[in-house]
Amino acid sequence: MDKKIRVGLVGIGGMGGCHFQNYETIKGAELVAVCDVRVDMAKEKVGNKNINVYGSLDKMLKNEDLDMIDICTPSYLHKDMTLKLVNDYHVLCEKPMTLNAKDAKKIAEVANASKKNFMVAHVVRFMTPYEILKKEIESKELGKLIRLDMKRISAIPRWSWENWMMDEKLSGGVTTDLSIHDLDFVQSVLGMPDKVEAYRYVKEENDTIFTTMLYDDTLVTCEGTWYNYGVPFEAEYMAVFQNGYVKLDGGVVYVNGKEYKKEATVVEDVDLGINVGNDDGYHKEIQYFVNCIIEGKQPGRVTPESSANSILLADTIKKKAKVISKK
Ligand SMILES: NC(=O)c1ccc[n+]([C@@H]2O[C@H](COP(=O)([O-])OP(=O)(O)OC[C@H]3O[C@@H](n4cnc5c(N)ncnc54)[C@H](O)[C@@H]3O)[C@@H](O)[C@H]2O)c1
Repeated sequence: MDKKIRVGLVGIGGMGGCHFQNYETIKGAELVAVCDVRVDMAKEKVGNKNINVYGSLDKMLKNEDLDMIDICTPSYLHKDMTLKLVNDYHVLCEKPMTLNAKDAKKIAEVANASKKNFMVAHVVRFMTPYEILKKEIESKELGKLIRLDMKRISAIPRWSWENWMMDEKLSGGVTTDLSIHDLDFVQSVLGMPDKVEAYRYVKEENDTIFTTMLYDDTLVTCEGTWYNYGVPFEAEYMAVFQNGYVKLDGGVVYVNGKEYKKEATVVEDVDLGINVGNDDGYHKEIQYFVNCIIEGKQPGRVTPESSANSILLADTIKKKAKVISKK
């Protein structure tokens, strides 16, 4: 049997825990090492699996012979970790790529010059309901896209290590951390918008970024909200075309009111302890990245430039947003 891709995972908190579970069924790769500054928590999560656990990235690199590193650390660490690793290892890095457009451009340049593969884990591009939407937009089977409304709401992310996610300087806030999922999807399918307007509404920790983007004669809106209540995670869209519509509602895709193969959009209900929908996207993105390494191909579904453009879009929105803040 061919040698498997040897993977090291950096950060095994909320999202690292999700990636960790997925490696059990990823073909062609083997998770051989994990590192986390909370080494006891990491050891507990790994349990009796044959995976080495380290308290730092440097110790893991020194002691392991790895092909690929999966970065699931807090977002403010992505830049330095990626730049340190990307010339020597294939790097899969959680979204957001980094926290501002200048750093994103730098990462894209270095990643493109490297012989190794680099991909930001923009999971929404791999989620079945969004793959369906992309196909409908690009095929024009329902005519031209006229309106697209996207919505992503979640309870405030309170699980993060030392509460880094609630510090905008460390996570990028509701735009760069949450809305980035939809902004990246829109940008990856339609490109950069001709015109952007945004409102940000903040009250008692409820935090909403509402963006409108104009593409020629197509209007796109994106809402990203962190609610200060234990609301269930929700991600929806409504796409109106010249001759019909596609809607994601309650995890089910409808095309002109008719349910689109339900089994394609529903996956096993696993409680990850973080506010994310249960979807097949996480497994698909990791498997895709591993397959690209095995096949010696660049991961063209999420290029470094395209991820950097999403950060540029998020930066533009943050700069343009009219902030309404009520005490
Ligand atoms: N794709 C998605 O749907 C999704 C959802 C949630 C989070 N994320 C992203 O995943 C990343 C991690 O978020 P999270 O929710 O898992 O946060 P988290 O705080 O739960 O986990 C981060 C982990 O990194 C560890 N860590 C911190 N510094 C470290 C270092 N120097 N070396 C090694 N480990 C270190 C922490 O101990 C913690 O366990 C973020 O970039 C976030 O935006 C993506």
